[in-house]
Amino acid sequence: MRSLASDNHSGVHPRVLEAIAAANADHAVSYGADPWTTRALELIQGEFGEHAEVFPVFNGTGANVVGMQSMLRSWESVICATTAHVNVDEAGAPEKLLGSKVIAVPSADAKITPELIRAQHWGIGDFHHAQPRVVLVTQSTEYGTRYSLDELRAITSTAHELDMYVYLDGARIANATAGLGCTFKEMTTDIGIDALSFGATKNGAMGAEAVVILNPALNAGETLGYIRKQYMQLASKMRFVSAQFIALLEDELWRANAEHSNSMAQYLASKVTSIPGVTITQAVEANAVFAIIPAAITPALQEVTPFYVWNEATNEVRWMCSWDTTTANIDTFVSALTSLTSGTGA
Ligand SMILES: Cc1ncc(COP(=O)(O)O)c(C=O)c1O
Repeated sequence: MRSLASDNHSGVHPRVLEAIAAANADHAVSYGADPWTTRALELIQGEFGEHAEVFPVFNGTGANVVGMQSMLRSWESVICATTAHVNVDEAGAPEKLLGSKVIAVPSADAKITPELIRAQHWGIGDFHHAQPRVVLVTQSTEYGTRYSLDELRAITSTAHELDMYVYLDGARIANATAGLGCTFKEMTTDIGIDALSFGATKNGAMGAEAVVILNPALNAGETLGYIRKQYMQLASKMRFVSAQFIALLEDELWRANAEHSNSMAQYLASKVTSIPGVTITQAVEANAVFAIIPAAITPALQEVTPFYVWNEATNEVRWMCSWDTTTANIDTFVSALTSLTSGTGA
């Protein structure tokens, strides 16, 4: 089965799988006191800078909860776009576990702006009102769009001026960084991001994410270890999570994987753009293409290649490319789309 439904539908990159197998030698001390974790932390720290504190976890929802717990008290709130994963796809985990209000702000391209932050920054010092403390940005966004470095810088400077932190949901940080042609550090540490999730799963890992705390004032060294344990995100056999990071970070395999999935989205967009009845709805800046297609053809097209309907009212759909999507996969899909749309007279 070849799928455009999710970048989690793809398998594990062979080099990651080899690294997991290679780590399966002999015994190693648990809970991160193993040589693979030492090396992974060194590599991740190398990407983000010497002050970065790194905590491998199991999944992205866990990373977001653990990462934001370092910044929030329960009477403080998180401002994010309505499309944010923490708002729509985590079953309310941040609200339940952090006890903090999530303020979701409509944004046509899934991006937060300084104006949107300022509009939500009120009631400061009023104990009737949840106090805005964190701005959450997703990079690349849930719409496959991407913040420029200047846009991120404007957000961090606004947030810091307002005494707020900026948390970056980096489930697809590799796609954004490769797309911008920069380094992880240039996109985060250098422009004042306070903490982030460093996603590897969608980039070819089997299941590996890390919380990275960049702001030393968050005192992560003293607290995050306990927070991660309380939220059940501490892996006992951590070497197998860490081995995945090593495989992706050494020789910049992460960048090759992300560049590939980004380029497949560009290829797909270029092929569908002239098909009558198909309208691309978002800038294609990472590994996703969003489009409106005729509702009548959707089930038949999903039979050829699975994908999700994102908005049932408009029949906006999401096509997501992975590190192993091929031009042949896309050609098969596009030819089905072409013949189905021609059948509708669109
Ligand atoms: C933007 C974003 N954040 C976080 C996640 C992590 O989710 P999970 O808890 O399923 O690993 C995802 C996964 O789809 C995502 O798209």
